[in-house]
Amino acid sequence: MATIPLSQIPESGASIIEVEGKRVLVCRNGNAVLAMDETCPHQDLSLEGARVRRGSLFCPHHGARFSLEDGRSLSPMTDCPLKFYPVAVSGEEVEITL
Ligand code: FES
Repeated sequence: MATIPLSQIPESGASIIEVEGKRVLVCRNGNAVLAMDETCPHQDLSLEGARVRRGSLFCPHHGARFSLEDGRSLSPMTDCPLKFYPVAVSGEEVEITL
């Protein structure tokens, strides 16, 4: 588990943080804060630099698009979803559990 300040998560876009020695991608979808495995299910490449736009996350490598509602793939290049981790927001703190 790790606790980070809400301010560390960009209003748009995504950041990589480390939780228990593991790289985790964090981003927002509207008012929701999300944490997920930082590798893309398409070819297991890092999602660092991914774009977040209108409820979707776009992989920087080949452009696969994933829903930030449930992680499902919205591109034909993979059927595998993003792997989300539990997040709890309390005031200005975000708790992420692997
Ligand atoms: S590695 Fe993400 S789209 Fe190919």
